[in-house]
Amino acid sequence: MGPRLPLLLSLVLLTAPRPGASSFPEDSVPIDSVDYHYTRHYPVFRGRPSGNESQHRLDFQLMTKIQDTLFIAGRDQVYLVSLRESYRNEIIPYRKLTWRSGPADRETCAMKGKHRDECHNFIKVLVPRNDDLVFICGTNGFNPMCRYYRLDNLEFDGEEISGLARCPFDAKQTNVALFADGKLYSATVADFLASDAVIYRSMGDGSALRTIKYDSKWLKEPHFLHAVEYGDHVYFFFREIAAEYNNLGKAVYSRVARICKNDLGGSQRVLEKHWTSFVKARLNCSVPGESFFYFDVMQSVTDIIDINGTPSVVGVFTTQLNSIPGSAVCAFSMEDIKKAFRGRFKEQKTPDSVWTAVPEEKLPKPRPGCCAGQGLAEGYKTSIDFPDETLLFIKSHPLMDSAVPSLSEEPWFTKTRVRYRLTAVAVDNRAGPHQNYTVVFIGSEAGVVLKVLAKASQNSLNDSVLLEEIDVFNSAKCASNREDDRRVLSLHLDRESHGLYVAFSSCVVRIPLSRCQRHASCHKSCIASRDPYCGWLPHGSCEKIQPGQLSGYEQDVEYGNTAQLSDCHGKNLFPSISSPPPAHSRCACHLCLTETFLHLTVT
Ligand SMILES: *[C@@H]1O[C@H](CO)[C@@H](O)[C@H](O)[C@H]1NC(C)=O
Ligand SMILES: *[C@@H]1O[C@H](CO)[C@@H](O)[C@H](O)[C@H]1NC(C)=O
Ligand SMILES: *[C@@H]1O[C@H](CO)[C@@H](O)[C@H](O)[C@H]1NC(C)=O
Ligand SMILES: *[C@@H]1O[C@H](CO)[C@@H](O)[C@H](O)[C@H]1NC(C)=O
Repeated sequence: MGPRLPLLLSLVLLTAPRPGASSFPEDSVPIDSVDYHYTRHYPVFRGRPSGNESQHRLDFQLMTKIQDTLFIAGRDQVYLVSLRESYRNEIIPYRKLTWRSGPADRETCAMKGKHRDECHNFIKVLVPRNDDLVFICGTNGFNPMCRYYRLDNLEFDGEEISGLARCPFDAKQTNVALFADGKLYSATVADFLASDAVIYRSMGDGSALRTIKYDSKWLKEPHFLHAVEYGDHVYFFFREIAAEYNNLGKAVYSRVARICKNDLGGSQRVLEKHWTSFVKARLNCSVPGESFFYFDVMQSVTDIIDINGTPSVVGVFTTQLNSIPGSAVCAFSMEDIKKAFRGRFKEQKTPDSVWTAVPEEKLPKPRPGCCAGQGLAEGYKTSIDFPDETLLFIKSHPLMDSAVPSLSEEPWFTKTRVRYRLTAVAVDNRAGPHQNYTVVFIGSEAGVVLKVLAKASQNSLNDSVLLEEIDVFNSAKCASNREDDRRVLSLHLDRESHGLYVAFSSCVVRIPLSRCQRHASCHKSCIASRDPYCGWLPHGSCEKIQPGQLSGYEQDVEYGNTAQLSDCHGKNLFPSISSPPPAHSRCACHLCLTETFLHLTVT
């Protein structure tokens, strides 16, 4: 931490209004804590040594499921792991693709002053183009390149294509890419110095389109996290420096942006070869109460999934990176996102004034940001035909005035009393035998994965329940001694095989979604676990219940009521069920943070 920021922050915290007693939720105590001695038996994949084993590192970049295969991409390699023929105790790739940076690229990379370790080919894009081809891009020693590979034999198909604006130069940059209607949408930085952030569309017919270069109203130091196709649009999820933030210092906000798939760019006068439909809105993940507390830094977000029949995304958000760690999981419905884009635009009239909403009657016609040929822009065949006023407006007003509220306007889950932040999220929205529960798995910086029963479903859950806290990182098998290596980079949930793939920089660990056998023959412990994946069977054991198995077992996900059940003395009970939660640090949020802060700044 720099010396200036803490002072600023503590001032902000000290001058913030005192919160009401209930303003910040306590961390819930997990029903079960699964420690390293238990999880160290789970299979670990480190990448296969190629040549000199001591030099090999997985350097995990991404994992994607294509046709029942999990593609795990790292440095110079992509491993293909079958999700259907999983080996019980191992993760064994059935195939491997190797693509190293060329010798000339490595040499140039070193001459540009980069370390040898940075001059590898880090695989940053891996997206299916169709049933036959997968499009892969790598940093290639700070000279990004892309290739098509055949899915059936993994042979390189055709020619190498420039990775510029499709793949970052540096493996440390975050980026996203997807194909929609045969065109590649990519969001990345497009230069060596990582100053030209871009959302770009290329390939397919028509000319390439992009965001305006170096325009901080459009994008300001963004971290791209996800892109999805939905209806007539492609949506992007990212975080960036908030241009509209009025207070001292700078703040990161989380955003959702969208683009019309039929956008052809502006006219020759305005926005030629640039998006005419780029609009963005803030995502509001905050804790209600007398004084709001925002989790503004999105770390990860899911695909669009159904939550109670509503298409939604679930994200993990944290406090600002230079402040005390705090994390939350919030869900947003696509309908609320669309509503924000139907609302008013935000503007700053002069460079120093505050941002205000543009009155609806001041909007040019057709409404800026609309897709040509549809709705309010129905009379226009293509975006090229839009009048100058509409194009000029959208060019200088990409930001919407209102933020997107989260589902039920509060986080599903928060974690604020620990030193680590949450980093990754995966959701099973059809958990349990009736497939009507929502279970969220959340990765953290500390190698711990949390399993949470979300209050998402229309049931009597008033709050989410922390079912398990699982210490997943295996420092022995992952052959790692760096503290940073404990960070969960990505999660992939495979419902069919009941597995969760947990990716770290140096390894991928597969854990089952449940551990019912930990409750062994203890009826009380099995029911108290409230785990929708587990049930008590009449022959006296706690076992995994298959989806669709509707009877012949006992479970109480909603209440975990064990009043009638006796303790299991001498049996393998874990302490948190029999003893009350530890009564530590019960105080309101801002006060606590301030105290911790003063403590930190003094010592
Ligand atoms: C492997 O690399 C290490 C470190 O660069 C080196 O010391 C060692 O001699 C190499 N071993 C082989 C078999 O090449
Ligand atoms: C965020 O949501 C809360 C309600 O949950 C609301 O009071 C607050 O004003 C919202 N913030 C923004 C910036 O819209
Ligand atoms: C799931 O379905 C079962 C059986 O219909 C029901 O008992 C339970 O309350 C349901 N739970 C939720 C969250 O809807
Ligand atoms: C949820 O809240 C209602 C009303 O406050 C209460 O009657 C009910 O028992 C609560 N349910 C749970 C699961 O705690």
